[in-house]
Amino acid sequence: MLKGKKILIGISGSIAAYKIPMLVRLLKKEGAEVKIVMTPVSCDFVTPLTLSTLSQQPVLIEPYNKVDGSWNSHVDWGRWADLFIMAPVSANTLAKMAAGIADNLLTTTYLAAKCPVFFAPAMDLDMFNHPTTKRNIDTLISFGNRLIEPQVGELASGLCGEGRMEEPDVIFQVIKDFFLKINDLSGKKILITAGPTYEAIDPVRYIGNHSSGKMGYAIATEAASRGAEVVLVSGPVSLTISHPGIKLIRVNSAAEMAKECIQVFPECDITIMAAAVADYSVEVPSPVKIKKSENSLTLELTKTKDILSELGKMKKSGRFLVGFALETNNENYNAVQKLTNKNLDLIVLNSLKDEGAGFGGDTNKVTLLSKNGKNIDLPLQSKAKVAVQIIDAILSKDTTL
Ligand code: CTP
Repeated sequence: MLKGKKILIGISGSIAAYKIPMLVRLLKKEGAEVKIVMTPVSCDFVTPLTLSTLSQQPVLIEPYNKVDGSWNSHVDWGRWADLFIMAPVSANTLAKMAAGIADNLLTTTYLAAKCPVFFAPAMDLDMFNHPTTKRNIDTLISFGNRLIEPQVGELASGLCGEGRMEEPDVIFQVIKDFFLKINDLSGKKILITAGPTYEAIDPVRYIGNHSSGKMGYAIATEAASRGAEVVLVSGPVSLTISHPGIKLIRVNSAAEMAKECIQVFPECDITIMAAAVADYSVEVPSPVKIKKSENSLTLELTKTKDILSELGKMKKSGRFLVGFALETNNENYNAVQKLTNKNLDLIVLNSLKDEGAGFGGDTNKVTLLSKNGKNIDLPLQSKAKVAVQIIDAILSKDTTL
Protein backbone atom coordinates (compact mmCIF):
# COMPACT_ATOMS: atom_id res chain seq x y z
CA MET A 1 0.00 0.00 0.00
CA LEU A 2 2.99 2.35 0.21
CA LYS A 3 4.01 1.63 -3.37
CA GLY A 4 5.51 4.74 -4.92
CA LYS A 5 5.03 6.86 -1.79
CA LYS A 6 7.98 9.19 -1.21
CA ILE A 7 9.08 9.17 2.38
CA LEU A 8 11.81 11.36 3.74
CA ILE A 9 13.35 10.38 7.07
CA GLY A 10 15.23 12.94 9.17
CA ILE A 11 17.54 11.56 11.83
CA SER A 12 19.03 13.60 14.66
CA GLY A 13 21.48 12.74 17.41
CA SER A 14 19.93 10.21 19.74
CA ILE A 15 20.72 6.62 20.59
CA ALA A 16 17.27 5.72 19.20
CA ALA A 17 18.76 6.34 15.72
CA TYR A 18 19.94 2.71 15.79
CA LYS A 19 16.30 1.66 15.29
CA ILE A 20 15.83 3.58 12.04
CA PRO A 21 17.32 0.91 9.74
CA MET A 22 14.42 -1.33 10.79
CA LEU A 23 11.93 1.39 9.82
CA VAL A 24 13.66 1.82 6.47
CA ARG A 25 13.40 -1.93 5.82
CA LEU A 26 9.70 -2.00 6.65
CA LEU A 27 9.00 0.96 4.36
CA LYS A 28 11.04 -0.45 1.49
CA LYS A 29 9.34 -3.85 1.79
CA GLU A 30 5.97 -2.09 1.34
CA GLY A 31 7.21 -0.43 -1.85
CA ALA A 32 7.95 3.10 -0.55
CA GLU A 33 10.75 5.24 -1.90
CA VAL A 34 12.89 6.34 1.05
CA LYS A 35 15.43 9.13 1.29
CA ILE A 36 17.31 10.02 4.44
CA VAL A 37 18.82 13.21 5.76
CA MET A 38 20.92 13.11 8.92
CA THR A 39 22.55 15.55 11.31
CA PRO A 40 26.33 15.08 11.61
CA VAL A 41 25.97 13.96 15.26
CA SER A 42 23.44 11.26 14.37
CA CYS A 43 26.13 9.54 12.24
CA ASP A 44 27.80 8.53 15.53
CA PHE A 45 24.72 6.47 16.40
CA VAL A 46 23.96 4.81 13.06
CA THR A 47 26.11 4.74 9.96
CA PRO A 48 25.09 6.48 6.74
CA LEU A 49 26.36 3.42 4.89
CA THR A 50 23.81 1.15 6.62
CA LEU A 51 21.05 3.60 5.76
CA SER A 52 22.09 4.21 2.15
CA THR A 53 22.37 0.45 1.60
CA LEU A 54 18.87 -0.18 2.96
CA SER A 55 17.25 2.82 1.27
CA GLN A 56 19.18 2.32 -1.99
CA GLN A 57 19.67 6.08 -2.06
CA PRO A 58 22.55 8.35 -1.07
CA VAL A 59 22.16 9.72 2.44
CA LEU A 60 22.57 13.48 2.83
CA ILE A 61 24.33 15.02 5.84
CA GLU A 62 26.07 18.22 4.79
CA PRO A 63 24.57 21.16 2.86
CA TYR A 64 27.27 20.81 0.23
CA ASN A 65 29.76 18.26 -0.99
CA LYS A 66 33.25 19.21 0.27
CA VAL A 67 35.02 17.34 -2.57
CA ASP A 68 33.44 18.97 -5.61
CA GLY A 69 31.62 21.87 -3.95
CA SER A 70 28.23 20.71 -5.26
CA TRP A 71 25.14 21.73 -3.31
CA ASN A 72 22.72 19.31 -1.63
CA SER A 73 19.36 20.99 -2.13
CA HIS A 74 17.24 20.97 1.01
CA VAL A 75 14.46 22.58 -1.05
CA ASP A 76 14.41 19.75 -3.60
CA TRP A 77 14.31 17.10 -0.88
CA GLY A 78 11.69 18.96 1.15
CA ARG A 79 9.49 19.25 -1.93
CA TRP A 80 10.14 15.70 -3.13
CA ALA A 81 8.55 14.02 -0.11
CA ASP A 82 4.91 12.97 0.34
CA LEU A 83 5.64 12.64 4.04
CA PHE A 84 8.56 13.72 6.22
CA ILE A 85 9.21 11.66 9.30
CA MET A 86 11.64 13.16 11.79
CA ALA A 87 12.78 10.25 13.94
CA PRO A 88 14.42 10.33 16.33
CA VAL A 89 14.14 14.00 17.22
CA SER A 90 16.59 15.04 19.91
CA ALA A 91 15.74 17.87 22.34
CA ASN A 92 18.18 20.07 20.43
CA THR A 93 16.64 19.45 17.00
CA LEU A 94 13.16 19.82 18.49
CA ALA A 95 14.10 23.26 19.82
CA LYS A 96 15.57 24.26 16.45
CA MET A 97 12.44 23.14 14.61
CA ALA A 98 10.23 25.13 16.99
CA ALA A 99 12.40 28.24 16.69
CA GLY A 100 13.00 28.03 12.94
CA ILE A 101 16.76 27.65 13.32
CA ALA A 102 18.24 26.32 10.09
CA ASP A 103 21.87 25.54 10.88
CA ASN A 104 22.19 22.10 9.29
CA LEU A 105 20.78 20.20 6.34
CA LEU A 106 18.12 18.47 8.43
CA THR A 107 16.61 21.63 9.91
CA THR A 108 16.81 23.53 6.60
CA THR A 109 15.03 20.62 4.91
CA TYR A 110 12.38 20.69 7.64
CA LEU A 111 11.78 24.40 7.03
CA ALA A 112 11.54 23.85 3.27
CA ALA A 113 9.24 20.81 3.46
CA LYS A 114 5.76 21.24 2.00
CA CYS A 115 4.42 17.82 2.99
CA PRO A 116 2.96 16.66 6.33
CA VAL A 117 5.63 16.22 9.00
CA PHE A 118 5.59 13.63 11.78
CA PHE A 119 8.09 13.85 14.61
CA ALA A 120 9.10 11.19 17.11
CA PRO A 121 11.02 12.65 20.05
CA ALA A 122 13.67 10.61 21.86
CA MET A 123 15.43 11.89 24.94
CA ASP A 124 15.97 11.38 28.62
CA LEU A 125 12.90 11.73 30.84
CA ASP A 126 14.01 14.96 32.54
CA MET A 127 14.77 16.54 29.19
CA PHE A 128 11.41 15.38 27.90
CA ASN A 129 9.60 16.77 30.92
CA HIS A 130 11.40 20.11 30.84
CA PRO A 131 8.95 22.98 30.28
CA THR A 132 11.01 24.13 27.28
CA THR A 133 10.60 20.75 25.57
CA LYS A 134 6.88 20.70 26.38
CA ARG A 135 6.49 24.19 24.94
CA ASN A 136 8.46 23.26 21.82
CA ILE A 137 6.29 20.20 21.24
CA ASP A 138 3.14 22.31 21.65
CA THR A 139 4.56 24.85 19.20
CA LEU A 140 5.29 22.17 16.61
CA ILE A 141 1.79 20.73 17.01
CA SER A 142 0.30 24.21 16.59
CA PHE A 143 2.18 24.43 13.26
CA GLY A 144 0.35 21.28 12.13
CA ASN A 145 3.21 18.82 12.71
CA ARG A 146 2.12 15.44 14.06
CA LEU A 147 3.62 14.11 17.27
CA ILE A 148 4.45 10.43 17.59
CA GLU A 149 4.47 10.28 21.35
CA PRO A 150 7.47 8.76 23.09
CA GLN A 151 6.81 5.79 25.32
CA VAL A 152 7.55 5.14 28.96
CA GLY A 153 10.38 2.67 29.33
CA GLU A 154 14.03 2.05 29.98
CA LEU A 155 16.19 4.90 28.70
CA ALA A 156 19.82 4.96 27.60
CA SER A 157 20.75 6.73 30.85
CA GLY A 158 19.55 3.68 32.80
CA LEU A 159 16.63 5.69 34.13
CA CYS A 160 13.08 4.64 33.44
CA GLY A 161 10.45 7.09 32.24
CA GLU A 162 8.89 8.90 29.33
CA GLY A 163 11.19 9.76 26.45
CA ARG A 164 11.77 6.46 24.68
CA MET A 165 11.20 6.82 20.95
CA GLU A 166 8.22 4.88 19.66
CA GLU A 167 9.17 1.51 18.16
CA PRO A 168 9.81 1.32 14.36
CA ASP A 169 6.86 -1.02 13.75
CA VAL A 170 4.49 1.46 15.42
CA ILE A 171 5.97 4.39 13.47
CA PHE A 172 5.51 2.28 10.33
CA GLN A 173 1.85 1.73 11.23
CA VAL A 174 1.38 5.49 11.82
CA ILE A 175 2.73 6.11 8.31
CA LYS A 176 0.46 3.46 6.79
CA ASP A 177 -2.57 4.87 8.65
CA PHE A 178 -1.70 8.32 7.39
CA PHE A 179 -1.85 7.22 3.76
CA LEU A 180 -4.96 5.15 4.39
CA LYS A 181 -6.85 8.09 5.90
CA ILE A 182 -5.12 10.88 4.03
CA ASN A 183 -8.19 12.34 2.42
CA ASP A 184 -11.05 10.46 4.03
CA LEU A 185 -12.65 13.78 5.03
CA SER A 186 -11.99 15.53 1.77
CA GLY A 187 -15.03 17.44 0.53
CA LYS A 188 -16.54 17.56 4.03
CA LYS A 189 -17.10 20.79 5.90
CA ILE A 190 -16.84 20.43 9.67
CA LEU A 191 -17.85 22.83 12.42
CA ILE A 192 -15.95 22.35 15.69
CA THR A 193 -16.27 24.37 18.89
CA ALA A 194 -13.60 24.51 21.58
CA GLY A 195 -12.68 26.14 24.86
CA PRO A 196 -14.75 27.91 27.51
CA THR A 197 -17.02 30.89 27.15
CA TYR A 198 -16.65 34.02 29.25
CA GLU A 199 -19.81 35.74 30.46
CA ALA A 200 -19.15 39.33 31.42
CA ILE A 201 -19.97 40.56 34.93
CA ASP A 202 -18.48 43.99 34.28
CA PRO A 203 -15.76 45.27 31.93
CA VAL A 204 -13.00 43.45 33.87
CA ARG A 205 -14.65 40.33 35.33
CA TYR A 206 -16.39 37.31 33.91
CA ILE A 207 -17.86 33.91 34.70
CA GLY A 208 -15.81 31.22 32.99
CA ASN A 209 -14.59 27.66 33.41
CA HIS A 210 -11.35 25.68 33.27
CA SER A 211 -11.65 24.37 29.70
CA SER A 212 -8.29 24.71 27.91
CA GLY A 213 -9.64 24.09 24.40
CA LYS A 214 -7.07 21.32 23.82
CA MET A 215 -9.64 18.63 22.94
CA GLY A 216 -11.45 20.77 20.35
CA TYR A 217 -8.18 22.00 18.85
CA ALA A 218 -6.90 18.41 18.58
CA ILE A 219 -10.09 17.40 16.74
CA ALA A 220 -9.77 20.40 14.41
CA THR A 221 -6.14 19.50 13.61
CA GLU A 222 -7.02 15.86 12.96
CA ALA A 223 -10.02 16.71 10.76
CA ALA A 224 -8.08 19.26 8.71
CA SER A 225 -5.13 16.93 8.23
CA ARG A 226 -7.57 14.33 6.83
CA GLY A 227 -8.74 16.79 4.20
CA ALA A 228 -11.77 18.47 5.81
CA GLU A 229 -12.58 22.14 5.54
CA VAL A 230 -12.82 23.08 9.22
CA VAL A 231 -14.48 26.03 10.89
CA LEU A 232 -13.20 26.20 14.47
CA VAL A 233 -15.26 28.45 16.73
CA SER A 234 -13.12 28.94 19.79
CA GLY A 235 -13.77 30.51 23.15
CA PRO A 236 -10.91 32.40 24.82
CA VAL A 237 -7.89 30.07 25.08
CA SER A 238 -4.14 30.53 24.92
CA LEU A 239 -3.73 27.98 22.11
CA THR A 240 -2.75 28.85 18.58
CA ILE A 241 -3.44 26.84 15.46
CA SER A 242 -2.29 27.26 11.90
CA HIS A 243 -3.44 24.92 9.19
CA PRO A 244 -4.59 26.02 5.75
CA GLY A 245 -7.72 23.85 6.18
CA ILE A 246 -8.84 25.57 9.40
CA LYS A 247 -10.76 28.82 9.62
CA LEU A 248 -10.52 30.04 13.21
CA ILE A 249 -13.28 32.25 14.60
CA ARG A 250 -12.58 33.57 18.08
CA VAL A 251 -15.51 34.41 20.36
CA ASN A 252 -15.93 35.28 24.01
CA SER A 253 -19.45 34.62 25.19
CA ALA A 254 -22.00 31.85 24.73
CA ALA A 255 -24.17 34.29 22.75
CA GLU A 256 -21.30 35.03 20.34
CA MET A 257 -20.56 31.32 19.97
CA ALA A 258 -24.25 30.61 19.29
CA LYS A 259 -24.40 33.29 16.59
CA GLU A 260 -21.36 31.93 14.72
CA CYS A 261 -22.45 28.29 15.01
CA ILE A 262 -26.02 28.86 13.92
CA GLN A 263 -24.77 30.78 10.89
CA VAL A 264 -22.28 28.17 9.67
CA PHE A 265 -24.09 24.97 10.79
CA PRO A 266 -26.40 24.58 7.75
CA GLU A 267 -23.36 24.31 5.43
CA CYS A 268 -21.61 21.66 7.54
CA ASP A 269 -21.67 17.90 7.04
CA ILE A 270 -20.37 17.22 10.53
CA THR A 271 -20.53 19.34 13.71
CA ILE A 272 -18.58 18.56 16.88
CA MET A 273 -19.40 20.66 19.95
CA ALA A 274 -16.40 20.24 22.25
CA ALA A 275 -16.74 23.68 23.86
CA ALA A 276 -17.63 24.06 27.53
CA VAL A 277 -20.37 26.61 27.00
CA ALA A 278 -21.60 28.55 30.03
CA ASP A 279 -25.13 27.58 30.98
CA TYR A 280 -25.84 30.95 32.56
CA SER A 281 -24.82 34.52 31.83
CA VAL A 282 -25.26 37.72 33.82
CA GLU A 283 -28.65 39.22 33.08
CA VAL A 284 -27.37 42.80 32.94
CA PRO A 285 -23.56 43.11 33.01
CA SER A 286 -22.43 46.36 34.62
CA PRO A 287 -21.07 48.86 32.08
CA VAL A 288 -18.56 50.07 34.68
CA LYS A 289 -16.30 48.22 37.11
CA ILE A 290 -18.30 47.10 40.16
CA LYS A 291 -16.86 48.64 43.32
CA LYS A 292 -16.59 46.60 46.52
CA SER A 293 -18.82 49.01 48.43
CA GLU A 294 -21.35 46.44 49.72
CA ASN A 295 -20.74 43.41 51.96
CA SER A 296 -22.42 41.09 49.56
CA LEU A 297 -23.17 41.08 45.87
CA THR A 298 -25.92 39.24 44.07
CA LEU A 299 -25.72 38.58 40.38
CA GLU A 300 -28.88 37.83 38.47
CA LEU A 301 -28.10 35.02 36.04
CA THR A 302 -30.12 33.98 33.07
CA LYS A 303 -29.93 30.75 31.04
CA THR A 304 -27.86 30.92 27.85
CA LYS A 305 -29.06 29.38 24.61
CA ASP A 306 -28.22 25.67 24.48
CA ILE A 307 -26.39 25.84 21.17
CA LEU A 308 -26.21 22.09 20.67
CA SER A 309 -29.97 21.69 21.22
CA GLU A 310 -30.64 24.47 18.73
CA LEU A 311 -28.39 22.77 16.17
CA GLY A 312 -30.10 19.43 16.91
CA LYS A 313 -33.44 21.02 15.99
CA MET A 314 -31.99 22.47 12.77
CA LYS A 315 -30.27 19.22 11.71
CA LYS A 316 -31.17 17.86 8.28
CA SER A 317 -30.86 14.19 7.32
CA GLY A 318 -27.40 13.02 6.31
CA ARG A 319 -25.77 15.49 8.70
CA PHE A 320 -23.84 14.28 11.74
CA LEU A 321 -23.96 16.01 15.11
CA VAL A 322 -21.59 15.23 17.99
CA GLY A 323 -21.85 16.56 21.54
CA PHE A 324 -19.71 16.24 24.63
CA ALA A 325 -20.96 15.46 28.12
CA LEU A 326 -18.92 16.23 31.20
CA GLU A 327 -20.40 14.32 34.08
CA THR A 328 -19.57 13.65 37.72
CA ASN A 329 -22.30 11.11 38.51
CA ASN A 330 -24.78 8.82 36.67
CA GLU A 331 -22.46 9.37 33.75
CA ASN A 332 -23.88 6.98 31.14
CA TYR A 333 -27.49 7.79 31.96
CA ASN A 334 -26.90 11.55 31.75
CA ALA A 335 -24.94 11.23 28.51
CA VAL A 336 -27.66 9.12 26.86
CA GLN A 337 -30.26 11.70 27.96
CA LYS A 338 -28.25 14.44 26.24
CA LEU A 339 -27.74 12.26 23.15
CA THR A 340 -31.52 11.79 22.82
CA ASN A 341 -32.76 15.20 23.96
CA LYS A 342 -30.34 17.15 21.77
CA ASN A 343 -30.93 14.94 18.68
CA LEU A 344 -27.27 13.87 18.46
CA ASP A 345 -25.67 11.06 16.48
CA LEU A 346 -22.78 10.59 18.90
CA ILE A 347 -21.86 11.85 22.35
CA VAL A 348 -18.39 11.87 23.88
CA LEU A 349 -18.62 11.21 27.61
CA ASN A 350 -15.97 12.58 29.95
CA SER A 351 -16.17 11.51 33.55
CA LEU A 352 -14.44 13.71 36.09
CA LYS A 353 -14.02 10.55 38.19
CA ASP A 354 -11.36 9.34 35.74
CA GLU A 355 -7.88 10.57 36.54
CA GLY A 356 -6.25 12.29 33.57
CA ALA A 357 -9.63 13.01 31.94
CA GLY A 358 -11.44 16.26 31.23
CA PHE A 359 -10.21 19.83 31.34
CA GLY A 360 -6.71 21.19 31.09
CA GLY A 361 -4.36 18.22 30.65
CA ASP A 362 -2.93 16.67 27.52
CA THR A 363 -4.75 13.38 28.08
CA ASN A 364 -8.36 12.31 28.12
CA LYS A 365 -10.38 9.19 28.84
CA VAL A 366 -13.73 9.09 27.12
CA THR A 367 -16.58 6.80 26.19
CA LEU A 368 -18.25 7.24 22.81
CA LEU A 369 -21.99 6.55 22.80
CA SER A 370 -23.76 6.46 19.47
CA LYS A 371 -27.46 6.88 18.83
CA ASN A 372 -27.72 3.28 17.62
CA GLY A 373 -26.70 2.06 21.06
CA LYS A 374 -23.01 1.35 20.45
CA ASN A 375 -20.61 2.20 23.27
CA ILE A 376 -16.86 2.43 22.80
CA ASP A 377 -14.78 2.75 25.98
CA LEU A 378 -11.46 4.31 25.08
CA PRO A 379 -8.36 4.10 27.27
CA LEU A 380 -6.58 7.05 28.88
CA GLN A 381 -4.56 8.53 26.01
CA SER A 382 -3.41 11.80 24.52
CA LYS A 383 -6.07 14.19 23.27
CA ALA A 384 -4.55 13.84 19.78
CA LYS A 385 -5.26 10.09 19.86
CA VAL A 386 -8.77 10.65 21.24
CA ALA A 387 -9.33 13.04 18.33
CA VAL A 388 -8.31 10.33 15.84
CA GLN A 389 -10.76 7.90 17.39
CA ILE A 390 -13.64 10.38 17.45
CA ILE A 391 -13.14 11.05 13.73
CA ASP A 392 -12.77 7.31 13.01
CA ALA A 393 -16.02 6.65 14.91
CA ILE A 394 -17.85 9.34 12.94
CA LEU A 395 -16.68 7.80 9.68
CA SER A 396 -17.29 4.20 10.69
CA LYS A 397 -20.40 2.51 9.41
CA ASP A 398 -21.37 1.61 12.97
CA THR A 399 -22.36 5.17 13.67
CA THR A 400 -24.57 5.55 10.59
CA LEU A 401 -23.08 8.65 8.98
N1 CTP B 1 -23.69 22.98 25.12
C1 CTP B 1 -24.11 23.96 24.25
N2 CTP B 1 -24.66 25.11 24.74
C2 CTP B 1 -24.82 25.29 26.06
C3 CTP B 1 -24.40 24.29 26.96
C4 CTP B 1 -23.84 23.14 26.45
O1 CTP B 1 -23.97 23.80 23.05
N3 CTP B 1 -25.35 26.41 26.49
C5 CTP B 1 -23.12 21.74 24.56
C6 CTP B 1 -21.67 21.49 24.92
O2 CTP B 1 -20.80 22.01 23.94
C7 CTP B 1 -21.61 19.96 24.93
C8 CTP B 1 -23.01 19.53 25.32
O3 CTP B 1 -23.85 20.67 25.09
O4 CTP B 1 -21.35 19.44 23.65
C9 CTP B 1 -23.19 19.09 26.74
O5 CTP B 1 -22.67 20.06 27.61
P1 CTP B 1 -22.72 19.81 29.19
O6 CTP B 1 -22.19 21.03 29.88
O7 CTP B 1 -22.14 18.47 29.52
O8 CTP B 1 -24.26 19.64 29.45
P2 CTP B 1 -25.46 20.64 29.56
O9 CTP B 1 -26.36 20.38 28.40
O10 CTP B 1 -24.99 22.04 29.74
O11 CTP B 1 -26.18 20.10 30.85
P3 CTP B 1 -25.69 20.08 32.39
O12 CTP B 1 -24.75 21.24 32.56
O13 CTP B 1 -26.99 20.25 33.14
O14 CTP B 1 -25.07 18.75 32.62
